[in-house]
Amino acid sequence: MRVMDHTSIAIRISSAEIAARIEDLARDIQAAMPEDTLMVPILTGSFVFAADLVRALARAGADWPLDFMTLSSYGSGTKSSGRIDIVRDLREPVSGRSVLVIDDILDTGRTLLFARDLLRERGARDVKICALLDKPARRTVDLAADFVGFAVTDEFLVGYGLDKAGRYRGLPYIGAIEG
Ligand code: IMP
Ligand code: MG
Repeated sequence: MRVMDHTSIAIRISSAEIAARIEDLARDIQAAMPEDTLMVPILTGSFVFAADLVRALARAGADWPLDFMTLSSYGSGTKSSGRIDIVRDLREPVSGRSVLVIDDILDTGRTLLFARDLLRERGARDVKICALLDKPARRTVDLAADFVGFAVTDEFLVGYGLDKAGRYRGLPYIGAIEG
């Protein structure tokens, strides 16, 4: 499919597939998490997924508070810098709470490991991880998500919140750049 700048994107997961999977994920999450759950989407990549997931959760009967945290690991390229920075911190206290961390993709795992450890250090009672995509082949740390939308192969993906150098986040599907 050709997008804004005539780049060709091969669709890997269609918007219909994403939507259907999110309904199932929301039901699983609603059944597994307690009433006092705090949702923490990790910006920026998760914002599209989080927006759809919170509405699916509402349909599934879960009406939970939400607070964002912005973490940065990648610079502007496609290679991880290895260091995680807190660009914007939470405003909600997490002590004693059950937290659902939401992200676009579990890649090396460093970002979500950092987030989980930070929330535990701050006294969260329980930290669960929900990632729309999981790239197990890329993992460099010992971390598994509790809720996963789709397992994907080791290929750089864009769309549905995922960017390459800040672009393609608004595509309604997930795809790979073909050139
Ligand atoms: P980590 O390597 O698991 O720490 O992933 C850090 C972040 O890298 C993710 O939250 C994404 O924002 C980004 N990322 C990893 N893989 C991809 C990809 O295939 N496309 C776009 N962003 C990615
Ligand atoms: Mg991210």
